[in-house]
Amino acid sequence: MNSVEIAVLPVGGLGTRFLPATKSVAKELLPVVDRPLLQYAVDEARAAGIRQFVLVTARGKASLADYFDVPGELIRVLEERGKSAELEILRATQLDPGAVITTRQQQPLGLGHAVWCARHVVGRRPFAVLLPDELLWNPSRPCLVQMVEAWRTTGGNMVAVMEVPLEHVNRYGIVDPGRAVGLLTEVRGLVEKPAVDQAPSRLAVVGRYILQPEVMDVLAQGRRGAGGEVQLTDAMAELIGRQPFHALRFLGERFDCGDKAGHVIANVALALERPDIGPAVRAWLAQRLGVPG
Ligand code: G1P
Repeated sequence: MNSVEIAVLPVGGLGTRFLPATKSVAKELLPVVDRPLLQYAVDEARAAGIRQFVLVTARGKASLADYFDVPGELIRVLEERGKSAELEILRATQLDPGAVITTRQQQPLGLGHAVWCARHVVGRRPFAVLLPDELLWNPSRPCLVQMVEAWRTTGGNMVAVMEVPLEHVNRYGIVDPGRAVGLLTEVRGLVEKPAVDQAPSRLAVVGRYILQPEVMDVLAQGRRGAGGEVQLTDAMAELIGRQPFHALRFLGERFDCGDKAGHVIANVALALERPDIGPAVRAWLAQRLGVPG
């Protein structure tokens, strides 16, 4: 099978870093400029050919499934008022009927457990995982597009990686790199949140995965790893040597929107790229920072 049709989006997190906003707004619906983080992930996946989306939600996060409803009343009002630009925004974000399937993670037992909660929907086919907190930005060749292209030649499992500063390796899944050809590197090992002096490299997994269904069998064992959680990284590590496993260096910009500073930076960066608001934001920033605009 040389295509990936289904993506799992783990969206059950509490979003405590964004309190008080996340008292009533799911963190995945926080906007960067005007689009929710979730929409960026869905658009990236659609560009890569994904047609089915599994949202792994949790208690209190039903708004994430509601987001994909067709807002009939709003559409009627916009039609009456002749608001064609707004109608086009809604049309462009509408997914096929039945394309979104939700399942729940009943307890917060870790990312690996969240992915495993999607096993009945995924079945025995390769699947993608996208963490919407990570906004990977390359509008002409989105990250998952880059991955699917590379994966068509390698098969097996693949993660997107970026080099991070040494002092940050303990925040990520880190790759033990093998032979590299171009942007692709064989993965010899994977370790979740290693101590700075024990990290095998500075190549961090940045929230995009193409995985074989066998990872679900490993996750089914429910073994706990770093932080007492069922780690996706540990389950993937068990597949190394049994199946091809590659890391692809992602070409583009990465914004860690699970972090307040990263979220603000993403807003500024993407606002500057917008033809409608970019000039005003640039002028204000230049004045504020005392640099030529
Ligand atoms: C998760 C993964 C980690 C990965 C990171 C990317 O960690 O467990 O391997 O590098 O996402 O954002 P979390 O950020 O949920 O702690």
